[in-house]
Amino acid sequence: MSATNQRKHDHLRTFARDPQVERGQNYFDAIRLTHRALPESALADVDTAVEFLGRRLAFPLLLSSMTGGSEKIFRTINRHLALAAEAEGVALGVGSQRVLFSEPAAVHSFALRTLAPSVPLLANLGAVQLNCGFGLNECRAALDVLKADALILHLNPLQEAIQREGDTNFRGLAAKIGGIARKLGKPVIVKEVGAGLSPADARLLVKNGVKILDVAGAGGTSWSRVEHHRRVATDAGDDLGLVFQDWGLPTPQAVAALAPLRKRITLIASGGIRSGLDMAKAVVLGASLCGVAAPFLRPAQESAEAVRAVIRRFRREFTTALFLLGCRTVAAARGNQNLLA
Ligand SMILES: Cc1cc2nc3c(=O)[nH]c(=O)nc-3n(C[C@H](O)[C@H](O)[C@H](O)COP(=O)(O)O)c2cc1C
Repeated sequence: MSATNQRKHDHLRTFARDPQVERGQNYFDAIRLTHRALPESALADVDTAVEFLGRRLAFPLLLSSMTGGSEKIFRTINRHLALAAEAEGVALGVGSQRVLFSEPAAVHSFALRTLAPSVPLLANLGAVQLNCGFGLNECRAALDVLKADALILHLNPLQEAIQREGDTNFRGLAAKIGGIARKLGKPVIVKEVGAGLSPADARLLVKNGVKILDVAGAGGTSWSRVEHHRRVATDAGDDLGLVFQDWGLPTPQAVAALAPLRKRITLIASGGIRSGLDMAKAVVLGASLCGVAAPFLRPAQESAEAVRAVIRRFRREFTTALFLLGCRTVAAARGNQNLLA
C-alpha cells in the first residue's frame, strides 16, 4: 500500500477511536439571529433552492471533501455519498486525489459521475503538491476521472507541519495556484481544511484569479489532533499536535471577515457546521454554500440512506430557520446584516 493510502487508513481509524478530533466548539452558538413572530409567509412558501456552478441544488449544502483510495472502504464511502448527494440534490466534493498517482486502482473510488449525474462534483488536490512536482496535468487528471465541475486545491500548512513526513514548503504557492486557475478551463476553488482562510489569504488568492473560496475554519474537525495520533506513535512525549488542536480562525469569524469580498468571490463556509441552523447563520454572514464533512463520515460507511437521513435533517432545520427569519428565499438571507440580532 502506498504511503498516501496508508495515511488515509490511519485517518479513518483515528476518527473511529478518538471522538475529540471533532472539536465541538459550536462557535455558531454565539451568533444570534432575529426571530420574526410575523414572518408573513407560510413554511411551505420557503424555497431553499440555489444554483452552484450552473447546477441546481435543493438547498445550499456541500458534502465536503473526505476520502478516496484503492481499498473497498473508500469506494463504499464515496459511492454512498454520491448516491445520497444525487437523491437529495446537494453538491459533493471528494477527498484528496493524490492517491491516484501512486495507486491507479483508486480511480474506481472517484468515478462517481454515473452515480451523481446532475449535482456539482468537486475534484480535490493539496495545493502544496504544486511545489512537489504536480502541475496542470495532475489537476486535469483529477478533474477528468470525476468528470468534475471544478477543482478544489486545499491549503493545509498546519496539518503538514504536524506530519513528520509533511510537505511544508508553501513558498510562492499563491502564484502557482493562479497559474492553474488561468489554464485549467474549469473553476478552481481554494479551501483550508479546518484552520480557516484569513482576509490576507483571500486578497492574495483573488489577486491571482481565484473566484471561489471555502474558509474551512476551526471549530469542527481538527487535523492537528488527527495527525497528533500518528506523531505520538513514534514519540509518546511529543504533543505538538495537541498544542495546536484548536488553532485557527473560527468559521463564523472567518466568513464575516471575508464577506466584504462577496461581490468578487463566491464564499463557501465550512468547519464545524453541525446543523441546518448553523447553515442559516453562515448564509446570513455571507456564505453562498455550506460544507459539512465529519457528520457524514459514519453514515457514509453504513449506507446511502443513512447519509440521506442526515441531509434531510439539515434541510428541515435550514428551512425552519429561513421561515422564522421571514425569508422566502436563500437570496433574501444571504449576507443580510439586518437579520443578525
Ligand atoms: C475524514 C475526513 C477527511 C478529510 N479529507 C480531506 C481531503 O482529503 N481534502 C480536503 O480538502 N479536506 C478534507 N477534509 C476536510 C473537510 O473537507 C472540511 O474542510 C473540514 O473537515 C471541516 O469540516 P467539518 O468540521 O464539517 O468536518 C476531511 C475531513 C474529514 C472529516
